[in-house]
Amino acid sequence: MPEPSKKFKKLPPYLFAEIDRKIAEKKAQGIDIISLGIGDPDLPTPAPIVAEMVKAVQDSSTHDYPPYHGTDDFRAAAGDWLQSRFNVTVNPANEVLSLIGSKEGIAHMILAYIENENDVVLCPSPGYPVYANYTNLCGGTPYTVPLTPEGNFLPDLDAIPADIAKRAKLLWLNYPNNPTGAVITEAKMKECLDWCRANDVLLCHDNAYSEMTFDGYRSPSFLSIEGAKDICVEFFSLSKMYNMTGWRVGFAAGNEAGIKALGLIKSNTDSGVFKAIQRAAAVGLQRSDELTFGLNEIYGKRRLLFVNGLRELGWEMAMPEATFYLWLPVPSGMTSVDFAAKMLDAGVVVPPGTGYGEMGEGFFRVALTVPEARLTEALGRMKKAGIRYDMTIAV
Ligand SMILES: Cc1ncc(COP(=O)(O)O)c(C=O)c1O
Repeated sequence: MPEPSKKFKKLPPYLFAEIDRKIAEKKAQGIDIISLGIGDPDLPTPAPIVAEMVKAVQDSSTHDYPPYHGTDDFRAAAGDWLQSRFNVTVNPANEVLSLIGSKEGIAHMILAYIENENDVVLCPSPGYPVYANYTNLCGGTPYTVPLTPEGNFLPDLDAIPADIAKRAKLLWLNYPNNPTGAVITEAKMKECLDWCRANDVLLCHDNAYSEMTFDGYRSPSFLSIEGAKDICVEFFSLSKMYNMTGWRVGFAAGNEAGIKALGLIKSNTDSGVFKAIQRAAAVGLQRSDELTFGLNEIYGKRRLLFVNGLRELGWEMAMPEATFYLWLPVPSGMTSVDFAAKMLDAGVVVPPGTGYGEMGEGFFRVALTVPEARLTEALGRMKKAGIRYDMTIAV
C-alpha cells in the first residue's frame, strides 16, 4: 500500500469523530450519556420544507445531475432572501453558488486560493477547525488571529505583523460565532473590510448561525456594508437555520471572482446539490422568519435554563445573544481536556476548548442540543459530581 501524503498525515482526527468514539465506548458499557458536544440540532426540519421535499423527490425531473452552480430557482430564492433579510443585492447568475453544506464551500474556497507555505490564511482561534486544518491540507500556512474574552471575541487585525498581512490571501470570520456565541458590531465589520481592502485579502465570512439569535437581536451580513462585494464572500448554511444538518445544503454569495473560483473547484470535484433538496431549501428561504421563529424560542429557553444553572454552579456569565453555544472557562488548575474528562465521568459530553485551536485552552463549549429535561439532568449530574467553577482540584 502506498503511504498517504505528508499533508494528509498532518491532519488531526476530526474533533467530533473522536468525541463520537468516546460516547460509543460509554454507551457500550451501558452508561447513559448526555451529549452537549456537536452542534447538531435535535429538533426536526420544519414541516413545510419536508412536505416540499416529499413532492420534489416524487418528480422524476429532479433525479438527474443538478446544474453545477445550483438551480436557477434555488439561486433566485437565495438572492431574494439576502435582499429581504439583509437588504443585500446580488446577481443570482454570477454572485450566488449552491453548496453541499457550508463546510464543503469553506474547504474548497481554501483549495481555490492556497497552494504553498507562502500563502497565509488568517484563522480565528478559537474557531471552526476546518479553516486551519484545510489550510494545512492545501500546504498553506494558517496564522492564528486570537479571539479573547477581553476583546469581546472580536479580531484585532492591527496586531497582525506586516509580513504576515502581505502573505495573507484569506481572512476567515464567523459571527454569530462558533464556539464563543459572540456577535459583531457594524464598526468592527467596517474595520475588517477596510483592513482586507488595504491588504488585498479576501474576507470570507462564515455566516452559518445568521438566523439563530435571541432577545430581538438580528445578526448582520457583511455584504450589507457598501462596497463589501469588492472584497468579501459570505457562506450561508441552512443546517442550523432549519435543523437541516443532514440535508447538506447552503450557499456562497458575494464577490464574483471569488464565487467563480470556488465554482471552478466545485465543478471539478462534486456534482452539486440534489435538485429536490434545492427545491425544499428554497421553500425554507421563502418562509424564513416564520420557520426560524419557533426554533429560536426553543433554543432561547434552553439557553436561559442552562445559563441560570451554570450561574448557580459559580460561572459568572452574560446571556449570549446568538447561537446555541455557551463558551465557558474551566475551573482554575485544570486543562480543557481534564475538565472534559471530568464531565464525561459525570455522564455529560462537552468538547474541550482546545478542539477549536490553541486559544481554546482554558475553556469548554456547551451545545444546547438536548431538551430542557436533559439539560436539567446534566446540571444535576454536574452538581452531584461536585463540578463547579470554583471547585478545588485535588492534587
Ligand atoms: C462555524 C461553522 N461553519 C460552518 C459549519 C458547517 O455547516 P454545514 O456544512 O452543515 O453548512 C459549521 C457547523 O457546525 C459551523 O459551526
